[in-house]
Amino acid sequence: MTRYLRLGVNIDHVATLRNARGGRHPDPLRAARMAAEAGADGITAHLREDRRHIRDDDVARLMAEIALPLNLEMAATDEMLGIALRHRPHACCIVPEKRTEVTTEGGLDAAGGKAHLKRFVQELGAAGVRVSLFIDPDEAQLDAARELGAPVVELHTGSYCEAPEGFDRQAELQRLVRAAAHAEAIGLECHAGHGLDYDTVGPVAAIPTVVELNIGHFLMGEAVFVGLPASLGRMRALMDAARPGAVRPAR
Ligand code: PXP
Repeated sequence: MTRYLRLGVNIDHVATLRNARGGRHPDPLRAARMAAEAGADGITAHLREDRRHIRDDDVARLMAEIALPLNLEMAATDEMLGIALRHRPHACCIVPEKRTEVTTEGGLDAAGGKAHLKRFVQELGAAGVRVSLFIDPDEAQLDAARELGAPVVELHTGSYCEAPEGFDRQAELQRLVRAAAHAEAIGLECHAGHGLDYDTVGPVAAIPTVVELNIGHFLMGEAVFVGLPASLGRMRALMDAARPGAVRPAR
């Protein structure tokens, strides 16, 4: 049976705009509510160490006021672990974080960082949080995620999205296809995201073992021009077109 592909909407960029003026507008919670009404399956938010977009009280409000499952992106630090354990969101996606980067630049080094990551995966899992590791589409990283006991991986689609159209992008797509197949073979749930837009989403949505995409920057950028229901609706339609026959499970 064709699997349904969930859409997690990342609302960080609304918080970036809010913080630019230091006030309360635009409220990322309003974006989360609109996304829910427009068909999002989950909300994704990244609480960064420097709080450059999402803030602690946004996480509290998302947990209290939004019915959709929250996927909290976080670095593997004790501070973030404490926050995640306090709120117990549906999922936590562990991402690498550098203070100077504009956005998450590469995947987590799960293979090289096993000793550090193990406690985070264990403690979050024991608290009932679904843990995913944001990794590059690389077999060694997938095997490391499996060894760490993470039930989910999110494949970094940035290299695919940034590659020039044609041969290079196809090669990056094939890396994602192989990694998604390997994830399935070793029993990991496979998500994907970063940099996806209307042009790049279809081939990733067509990879049958990917069950969730997390998309933010492009959706919010388009929403400036057409509104969030329209940008999200078009993204959803492109995802559905790439996976005909998939039926959304009842909530
Ligand atoms: N998934 C992860 C783990 C991310 O860190 C990000 C960016 O915050 C996204 C998905 C969404 O990427 P984009 O905003 O480029 O769509």
